[in-house]
Amino acid sequence: MKEVKVGLIGFGTVGQGVVKLLRQNQKDIEARLGGRIALAGVADKDWRRPRQVALDKKFRRADGYQLIADPEVKIIIELVGNFPGVKEMIIDALRAGKMVVTANKALLAKYGDEIFAVAKKSGADIYFGASVAGGIPILRVLREGLAANRIQAIYGIVNGTCNYILTRMQEADLEYAEALKEAQARGYAEANPEADVEGIDASHKLAILLRLGFGMSVPIEKIFRKGISRLSHLDLQAASELGYRIKLLAVARESEGRLEARVHPTLIPESSMLANVRGVYNAVYVRGNFVGPTLFYGQGAGMEATASAVMSDVMELARNILQGRRAGRLRPEGYAALNPHGLRLEPMDDLVGPYYLRAWVKDQPGVLAKIAGILGKHMISINSVIQREVRDGKSVPIIIITHQALEANIQKAVREINRLKVVLNPVQLIRIATELE
Ligand SMILES: NC(=O)c1ccc[n+]([C@@H]2O[C@H](COP(=O)([O-])OP(=O)(O)OC[C@H]3O[C@@H](n4cnc5c(N)ncnc54)[C@H](OP(=O)(O)O)[C@@H]3O)[C@@H](O)[C@H]2O)c1
Repeated sequence: MKEVKVGLIGFGTVGQGVVKLLRQNQKDIEARLGGRIALAGVADKDWRRPRQVALDKKFRRADGYQLIADPEVKIIIELVGNFPGVKEMIIDALRAGKMVVTANKALLAKYGDEIFAVAKKSGADIYFGASVAGGIPILRVLREGLAANRIQAIYGIVNGTCNYILTRMQEADLEYAEALKEAQARGYAEANPEADVEGIDASHKLAILLRLGFGMSVPIEKIFRKGISRLSHLDLQAASELGYRIKLLAVARESEGRLEARVHPTLIPESSMLANVRGVYNAVYVRGNFVGPTLFYGQGAGMEATASAVMSDVMELARNILQGRRAGRLRPEGYAALNPHGLRLEPMDDLVGPYYLRAWVKDQPGVLAKIAGILGKHMISINSVIQREVRDGKSVPIIIITHQALEANIQKAVREINRLKVVLNPVQLIRIATELE
């Protein structure tokens, strides 16, 4: 039987999953490919650390370059993460004519242009299906399944840590800090959770979705980003009373030649399927101009689910190699040439939509009128108001849902409201997605 040799760099969570999958599903993979995927070796920095998946000593390497230099190895799987030297290692592998599979969203979001250019010049492919939404083959969907569509909108729950925290805040009546602690205890959040809870990871994934969905290369600094760490249980409770759930969404939406690219907590109507994605699960809603709305759901992380996506890419590349085809049969960035529609990024100030505002105010008469006056001055009309009972005898929350308003006006109004002496904490502002009903 013909075989394709692969070299794996990084024997951590996902790397071990890949070896486990290769072993467990070997027969199915061979039957589907008509060839064998043979592991040439696995490189990792530290072989003393105990692992869940056993690996014979003969496969162990101390340095990824031993695999890159091996002429027998045709595919390099990089599962190290965004560390110094990894970008160079991927580039060197591509320059050596190796096909590359990676799950490294941070690296692709930052250096995608450079890495894809090297791949093209070297005549090698780089696939990265596991970099967005783990086990959900959403990148393959954009690249192949929806290739005939013009993509109009993508809404993604693409960070399982945030979704777990928000689910627990909602369902177990926890405050943010309690839910984060629980997520950390269960291994769903890092000791330093910043990349997840501040939306950084989701913005990396959005950058990749923008590339495949819209042919746009958007620097991550240009993606509007707000995390979940300032949300309070009160917000989730109030949202629920109003018929919404709060989710951290990565949003890309095209309208009249302009593209919105933003990551932030969002109120979603509770009737929407995305609103019911619970725990660490991910889901991505994609609307194409012919297919209409579609939704993809599954595990966004974890050893096995992520290995599933990595191996799908490895099989695709191995299939090409076994059939003697060159790289580029299916462009890694999809069919879209860079920005085929000349889209421009929409400034956040131009966003239009309804908003949720929550203010902690002194319990005095006339406060609501003051806030309503400021909103009116900035052309913002109120849809509904919830005024809670006094908790400590001094302060009270006021929750307002607005009608459609311009983000620039909302920001001006919020700044003005924050300056009122009767307002005790900065106003909480959450955008509302109405399209997802
Ligand atoms: N975990 C998931 O569920 C998931 C989901 C989607 C995508 N991803 C992506 O998949 C990649 C791997 O994630 P992971 O969770 O498997 O990470 P991980 O558990 O930290 O594994 C990375 C492994 O690479 C090793 N390593 C570090 N530097 C190396 C080097 N220069 N050469 C060889 N090995 C090196 C690490 O060793 P030390 O521990 O000794 O440093 C560790 O064993 C990341 O890009 C991540 O973003 C992960």
